Amino acid sequence: MYSLRGVIVILCALLSASRAQDDVKKGPCDVFIQDVNNLTLNCSRRNIDRIPAWPEEIHKIAGKDACVLITFFNNSITNVTELGTVPGNKIAISFKSNRIKEIEDDAFKNIHRLVYLDLSSNRLSGDVLRSEIFQGPYKNGVYSEISLETLNLGYNQIHSLDKYLFQYTPNLTRLYLNNNPIEILDHVTILAISSATKLEVLDLAKTDIDAIPLETFRGLVNLKQIDLSGNQFLTVPESLSLVGSTLQYLTFNNNPLVELNDDSFLGLSNLLELEVGENNYLDEVKRSTFTPLKSLRVLHLCHNKKLKYISHNAFRGLKEKWTLKEVYLDDNNLSELSTDLLPWDKLEVLGMTGNNWLCNCDLANIVTKQNAGSKFKPGEIPYCAAPMRLSGAYITNITVSFCPQFDTTFALKKRFSVSDLRPKHVLWSILGVGTVVGIGMICGLFFNFIKAFFKKNLRSQPIQYVNINDDLA
Ligand SMILES: *[C@@H]1O[C@H](CO)[C@@H](O)[C@H](O)[C@H]1NC(C)=O
Ligand SMILES: *[C@@H]1O[C@H](CO)[C@@H](O)[C@H](O)[C@H]1NC(C)=O
Ligand SMILES: *[C@@H]1O[C@H](CO)[C@@H](O)[C@H](O)[C@H]1NC(C)=O
Ligand SMILES: *[C@@H]1O[C@H](CO)[C@@H](O)[C@H](O)[C@H]1NC(C)=O
Ligand SMILES: *[C@@H]1O[C@H](CO)[C@@H](O)[C@H](O)[C@H]1NC(C)=O
Ligand SMILES: *[C@@H]1O[C@H](CO)[C@@H](O)[C@H](O)[C@H]1NC(C)=O
Ligand SMILES: *[C@@H]1O[C@H](CO)[C@@H](O)[C@H](O)[C@H]1NC(C)=O
Repeated sequence: MYSLRGVIVILCALLSASRAQDDVKKGPCDVFIQDVNNLTLNCSRRNIDRIPAWPEEIHKIAGKDACVLITFFNNSITNVTELGTVPGNKIAISFKSNRIKEIEDDAFKNIHRLVYLDLSSNRLSGDVLRSEIFQGPYKNGVYSEISLETLNLGYNQIHSLDKYLFQYTPNLTRLYLNNNPIEILDHVTILAISSATKLEVLDLAKTDIDAIPLETFRGLVNLKQIDLSGNQFLTVPESLSLVGSTLQYLTFNNNPLVELNDDSFLGLSNLLELEVGENNYLDEVKRSTFTPLKSLRVLHLCHNKKLKYISHNAFRGLKEKWTLKEVYLDDNNLSELSTDLLPWDKLEVLGMTGNNWLCNCDLANIVTKQNAGSKFKPGEIPYCAAPMRLSGAYITNITVSFCPQFDTTFALKKRFSVSDLRPKHVLWSILGVGTVVGIGMICGLFFNFIKAFFKKNLRSQPIQYVNINDDLA
């Protein structure tokens, strides 16, 4: 009886212990050694509030190119103190999801080969991020540099960066500043960013900024990828053209812009992929919007719930040297597309689901005659919304018996839309008309003057006037 109770107690204790182990592990971190070149130290979810000394096993790693990953994901560390030496050639450390609000000077100086540091989802402010935290060992009177290539500072409380922050990290290649209350890229922050001349990836999503001053990009001669989503931009920032010769990926989702036009992507001639989505106020893509994008391969123009008009000239000037392979127009508010919008048959993938397609002859032409219907991904065939009798049918199912015979003259017949007009076009038109009228008036006056002159002075001479009006008629 007594022993049975004892067994039950022990069983219960074991059970609850193992359950506790499932949730939160206490005690030392787990070491996984894949081979001489690959070690993982897992300190995730262990209720740690300070950084422990490394376990002995960490020094078992021998390979010259060894990779070491140390993760403290989801603990309650508040203070990053000086870390102990870690062997290996590429060291990655993650402090993601802690409560860090302090980092000591020299915190990483024993880890020369630190290439990846994740400090996202902490409580860091800009003041804590001083250049001293990244300085390497002190040698011959100077602090040396560290190898840091990827730095994730996302989801913190950063308003501004120290202008010398990247002084000791010359190889910084990827910088994530997303989800911080930056609001304004002030002078010092700009100096900090532009000092990272090897930067290739910059994430400024959800930082509440509405402008990027030109100086920000001055030093960034290697920038390949930028994310500006979830900000307050009313237009695509002009300063981007400064990195136009290197920029390959631009993400511009969720900003309050209302239109895209021929100024939007000026100078981005090397862009390979563009994503413009979830812009809830975007209702129009105007003529020549994509014209500067002479290398574009993938266009995502999706989830813009008000977007209802794409100018038939949006890709003007690109058709001769067509580079686009994938065009996604899903989940906008489009109902019509122009037959000559783009060379449909040259695409590899086309997405058109989630719009209000009016299944008319133009759409039938695009889908059937111009072969767009064969570019949809399996299971992503768009439906007709109108006219009523076709509503709910696949647009690839519509028969074209009611349409005029498709010939080239039909496709070339351009429709002119008032919304194609831009203030500068109107201005030029007015100037043009004005000039013609002016010249006409001058000619008229001159003619009258000659006439009067001849009438007065040469009345006796028989002159044959040619009536210009009669002649023209
Ligand atoms: C190291 O091992 C982990 C599995 O433990 C693996 O996911 C990772 O890709 C390996 N890294 C390298 C560089 O071999
Ligand atoms: C690290 O440990 C935690 C807690 O035991 C576990 O949930 C997680 O899957 C581990 N991660 C890896 C990469 O082994
Ligand atoms: C971290 O762990 C806590 C429990 O300790 C949990 O409530 C929280 O959701 C976790 N956070 C993340 C980002 O996983
Ligand atoms: C962080 O830790 C260091 C070393 O233990 C200590 O000197 C410093 O006061 C700590 N900072 C904070 C804000 O707790
Ligand atoms: C930066 O990268 C270069 C080239 O890969 C390398 O020679 C140099 O040692 C690196 N700098 C640091 C501080 O690791
Ligand atoms: C989509 O367009 C239709 C008219 O074509 C309009 O009635 C509707 O309000 C638009 N939806 C949005 C979200 O603007
Ligand atoms: C498309 O056409 C096929 C064959 O004509 C028919 O079976 C199918 O129901 C149609 N589907 C839609 C969604 O129009």
